Amino acid sequence: MLLPLLLLLLAALVASPARSLSFSPGSPAFGFHIDWGATSPASVGTILGRPPACFAEFYSFGASSLDPATVEQHATLVKAAGASCLFLSLEPWFGLDSKGIAGTDIAAIADACNRANALGVDIIVRFAHEMNAPWYPWGLPAGEGNYIAAYRRVVSGLRAQLKNRTMTYTLWAPQMWSCEGRGPVEDPYGRWYPGDDYVDIVGFSLFHFPTLPSPSNPLSRLFSQNPAPAGMLSNILRGRPGGGAYCDFRNVFGDKKAFSKPIIVAETGVGWSPAQKGETSDQEQALELSIKRTWWRQLLFANEGANPLNISMVMWFEFNKTEQGFSGMEYRDFRILTGSNATRDAFLDDYKAKTQ
Ligand SMILES: *[C@@H]1O[C@H](CO)[C@@H](O)[C@H](O)[C@H]1NC(C)=O
Ligand SMILES: *[C@@H]1O[C@H](CO)[C@@H](O)[C@H](O)[C@H]1NC(C)=O
Ligand SMILES: *[C@@H]1O[C@H](CO)[C@@H](O)[C@H](O)[C@H]1NC(C)=O
Ligand SMILES: *[C@@H]1O[C@H](CO)[C@@H](O)[C@H](O)[C@H]1NC(C)=O
Repeated sequence: MLLPLLLLLLAALVASPARSLSFSPGSPAFGFHIDWGATSPASVGTILGRPPACFAEFYSFGASSLDPATVEQHATLVKAAGASCLFLSLEPWFGLDSKGIAGTDIAAIADACNRANALGVDIIVRFAHEMNAPWYPWGLPAGEGNYIAAYRRVVSGLRAQLKNRTMTYTLWAPQMWSCEGRGPVEDPYGRWYPGDDYVDIVGFSLFHFPTLPSPSNPLSRLFSQNPAPAGMLSNILRGRPGGGAYCDFRNVFGDKKAFSKPIIVAETGVGWSPAQKGETSDQEQALELSIKRTWWRQLLFANEGANPLNISMVMWFEFNKTEQGFSGMEYRDFRILTGSNATRDAFLDDYKAKTQ
């Protein structure tokens, strides 16, 4: 009699969802994707004046490429900086099937999460992000059937091996598209959703690229203005203008789920390319500041006004890098804390005013 009862209780505990994220209800919490070679959680926390909500790192996943000890090291640095969340982007470069992602790979990520959790650090696992975009092999090129099967297999295997289910969250995070001009074409999000049972947090990637070309392309027009147009975040998140009901990401994945799924901005920034603009240094700094500020203010104020977006957390992409751009390699400085001092000071003014 007692044993079955205990087993039932245990099953209920194991199946219970992760505890709700305790982010402040006002402004979204801020966290950072950092370049671990160029900066550290401690220096970012010092600049910010307090520990951010979370730090992120990208990890190759599959073919034994993920070393749990590396994740543990990162968790140690996060904890030393006074923060309590590490955001793992798992990039399955070796295929989505059981050759690309073997049981031993899933055991390795579970081991990594358990080690971080044992240090008191929460983990957010973002497996195979931006899957609804053409640029990663695990997304559009693989197809939604293969993607969803892999997502479910990884999440099920991971959860079965977690020592504390309440300290590791699974995040599903597609690329956000403008629905303008999309008309009644296919749903850009829903067909990639692995299902409520596998997803603890819903998020998305959305960058502002002030230099994006082809303004005549209606799909990119919203992104191509310089700076970000007013309401860009809320319009795109709401699928406006011109999107079908399926394009209202906030509604489909937030409201309809009665807050059971917090919504976060999983990756964002401004792809600022000073070299292409040719301003003098002062002009350049002023323009950088104003363009970046326009975007971070949309994020900081996302939960205000008549139609609050109720975003729990924003993960800023704090990188300075050369990457594949829209026309060849482009140098982009996304930084708001560790780059230009003027930009940093302006961000800190806004951030401290919003998040007491
Ligand atoms: C799991 O983590 C939560 C949150 O940190 C903690 O309150 C709880 O005691 C942990 N449970 C176990 C079994 O360690
Ligand atoms: C946002 O949160 C407020 C306060 O909890 C709530 O009244 C409102 O309905 C929420 N809006 C959305 C779009 O979730
Ligand atoms: C930023 O990146 C560019 C291009 O890779 C590089 O030339 C520059 O030195 C970097 N700046 C800093 C401060 O790291
Ligand atoms: C930028 O700020 C840092 C830290 O406050 C300071 O050490 C550095 O000298 C400043 N750089 C410039 C160019 O003002």
